[in-house]
Amino acid sequence: MQQINEKKFYLTTPIYYINDVPHIGHAYTTIMADVIKRYKKLMGYDVFFLTGTDEHGQKIEQSATQKGITPQALADKMVAHFKALWKTLNIDYDRFIRTTDGYHVEGVKKIFKKVLEKGDIYPGNYEGHYCISDESFVTEMAEDSGDGNKICPDCGKTTVKVTEKCYFFRLSAYQDKLLKFYEENPDFVTPKTRMNEVVSFVKMGLKDLSVTRSTVKWGISMPDDESQTIYVWFDALTNYITAINYNEEDETFQKYWPADLHIIGKDILKFHAVYWPAFLMAAGLPLPKKELIHGWWLKDEKKMSKSEGNVLDPQILLKFFSPDAIKYFMMREASIGADGNFSHQGFIVRVNTDLANDWGNLVSRTGGMTLKYFNQQFDSEAEYSEKENAVKEQYLELEKEVIRFFDNYQFNRGLEKIFFYIGQLNKYIVESQPWELAKSGDKKGILAGVLKTLIRAILSVNNLLSPVIPGTAEKIKKTFNYDAPGLGWKDPGEVFNIDKVEQLFPRVDIKDFFADEETKKPAKEEKEEMQTEKLAEGLITFDDFKKIEMVVAKVTEAEKVEKADKLLKLTVDTGTDTRTLVAGVALYYQPEDLKDKKIIIVKNLKPVKLRGILSQGMILAASDASGRPYIPIIPEETPVGAFLK
Ligand code: MSP
Repeated sequence: MQQINEKKFYLTTPIYYINDVPHIGHAYTTIMADVIKRYKKLMGYDVFFLTGTDEHGQKIEQSATQKGITPQALADKMVAHFKALWKTLNIDYDRFIRTTDGYHVEGVKKIFKKVLEKGDIYPGNYEGHYCISDESFVTEMAEDSGDGNKICPDCGKTTVKVTEKCYFFRLSAYQDKLLKFYEENPDFVTPKTRMNEVVSFVKMGLKDLSVTRSTVKWGISMPDDESQTIYVWFDALTNYITAINYNEEDETFQKYWPADLHIIGKDILKFHAVYWPAFLMAAGLPLPKKELIHGWWLKDEKKMSKSEGNVLDPQILLKFFSPDAIKYFMMREASIGADGNFSHQGFIVRVNTDLANDWGNLVSRTGGMTLKYFNQQFDSEAEYSEKENAVKEQYLELEKEVIRFFDNYQFNRGLEKIFFYIGQLNKYIVESQPWELAKSGDKKGILAGVLKTLIRAILSVNNLLSPVIPGTAEKIKKTFNYDAPGLGWKDPGEVFNIDKVEQLFPRVDIKDFFADEETKKPAKEEKEEMQTEKLAEGLITFDDFKKIEMVVAKVTEAEKVEKADKLLKLTVDTGTDTRTLVAGVALYYQPEDLKDKKIIIVKNLKPVKLRGILSQGMILAASDASGRPYIPIIPEETPVGAFLK
């Protein structure tokens, strides 16, 4: 099943500003890139993964002055924090670029000169507004701040006035070329909504862009005019080519450029999807193939950022949890395009439930029973039935589905499917009752069949999960003394050795976590939150709302419930399973009104029995004063399983 080929995959994260230590938001982009690298490797690609730091510009200059140190000293100090965090998180990057590295400086000068010589950079004067936080020029159209400045439309901070001699890049000349490129490459930016945003932005008209600053000194000086410093975004974006030897344009550059994937947050879309392609066009270089735009991690509904004072330090989580737990949570919790609200409580519950209870227990129960009933060398003859075959078939189906999701960077959906299968394996243990089989002397063959099937399923799922939780995947491979690369049904044969299973994910008690000194602050915050909640009686918090899992489901079958004229029995596909619901709508809806329609259901409602039928969840309907239901029918193109939020 493994696809071996010579295909290359060059992927990048943004390079991080070094005005402060990394937080969970930065870790998110890097973790995502790491997961994609490992997944692509698993699929047989030759991957190059680049990350690094963005060290020049006014923001860093200002930050260093405030701290009373040189920008270079600030950069050196902060880079150490970034590198240390990536090491602890087991991030497997191939190159770490710093924009103060000599080869980068030379490469920026090279591309700048090329565009200058082409005539697309020309001298002028800039008079206008500048957002230091975003390192971005803000137009007159932005809202006034009241003191003669503007409010940055992206980050909400007040701009400063800039009047200086500078050089402009002829961005306006690239408007049509960019629009043509987007038209020919509609998947250049994903998700689609972000692509639409880019197209609208460019259609509104592009003005020439100032690409040098004369009042900023911390940066790369312009070739031919030392009084000018190259604009930090021109400098920073170029890292994607200088890191793979644009200077020499050697084999590495020929092999890896254009990039296959730039991963960025939604705040830096314009720079990557408008400016960067235009700079490359001007320099006569091919454009990146794809840009994946992720949402933000919010804390208390606000983007986590230093200036908001709401950043979460990953080191606090790492005191209690493994890097794998953090990676799993970040990839499972939010879909890549959407924002996710970070709560410690939500984190602990997710990790304890999925990783400790479902996956960890499955592995340790299976390993434990194998050792108990058969000892370390598992060479007992096994008997298999249809059930065992079904476990394998279900896995093969799952793998196909997961590949589809992972190829589209829908890691949350792929992981959801994997954990549904893990749930099925746990059910298979309960149904097979190995402990009962072990009691009767003549059922050893069946018992061996069950345990060997479970071990095969575990080893197969383990490889599928390995891009997301690589540390755990290694431990499992060691436990079962089996390490076959790639995907597919993993079968160590009928004779193999197993070692004692270590606990993979120790359960963390919420109380212990919040009792820790360093986490006291969030504990206090949560206490305050609870008090505010009391004041706002009758209202629910966003976290309360998020507990209700509402999804789009498709009605595959509908029928009347016998001897109950108000009830309809519906079979629905929820995207992760097929289940039965009983709805009290039969007086107003015929089965054929609902069959094949997409509706909204509450998925995580406790099941109840109605007229002997187990109803798993509830359909959503509006109701008038007489109690007549109105069921909202969801447009056909909405994907089954889509969340409502
Ligand atoms: N230096 C520029 C990028 C230059 S790339 C040529 C920059 N740096 S940054 O440090 O501010 O942000 C780097 C990345 O971290 C961005 O993709 C940004 O979206 C991401 N995040 C920063 N805070 C974040 C959250 N709270 N949540 C998720 N990601 C966010 O921009």
